[in-house]
Amino acid sequence: MLPLTTAINIKKEWHIAKARGDTKKLMISVGCSTICLTEVVTCVSELAYNLFFHTQEGGVIEMSIIDPDGVLGIKITSHDNGPGIKSVTDALEDGFSTNGGLGGGLPGVKRLMDDFQIFSSEAGTSITCVKWCT
Ligand SMILES: Nc1ncnc2c1ncn2[C@@H]1O[C@H](COP(=O)(O)OP(=O)(O)O)[C@@H](O)[C@H]1O
Ligand SMILES: [Mg+2]
Repeated sequence: MLPLTTAINIKKEWHIAKARGDTKKLMISVGCSTICLTEVVTCVSELAYNLFFHTQEGGVIEMSIIDPDGVLGIKITSHDNGPGIKSVTDALEDGFSTNGGLGGGLPGVKRLMDDFQIFSSEAGTSITCVKWCT
């Protein structure tokens, strides 16, 4: 029956709200708990904000419902084509921001999701994270 996948281009500010709404709808449709849903929507929001604020061209957020071995989860990916993150180590520190932001986005996503991977170069940034909906 699964996977269910949605992808959203993030280019304009209202796309961030759309990403939040689509994530919520997708997770409700498969019966995720309100707590899980709220945490994942927060993460999608932070990743989408980062595409809007920190890239030239925006990017894409993709979300997939996964169920390996019958365990329900949601995989979120964020892709963009640059400018990339100079130091991923710094970017994952609480309070680090290159544009006067709060610097809580990426470290928050890492904490809230169960798996978190990030690759970044001048060619772009790719973030993949998974939350298991228990
Ligand atoms: N997709 C991205 N492309 C380039 N830089 C990014 C991206 N996402 C995050 N960053 C960098 O990582 C830093 C930390 O991100 P974050 O924790 O969300 O804090 P904030 O957005 O408040 O600055 C940002 O200030 C920015 O320099
Ligand atoms: Mg941010």
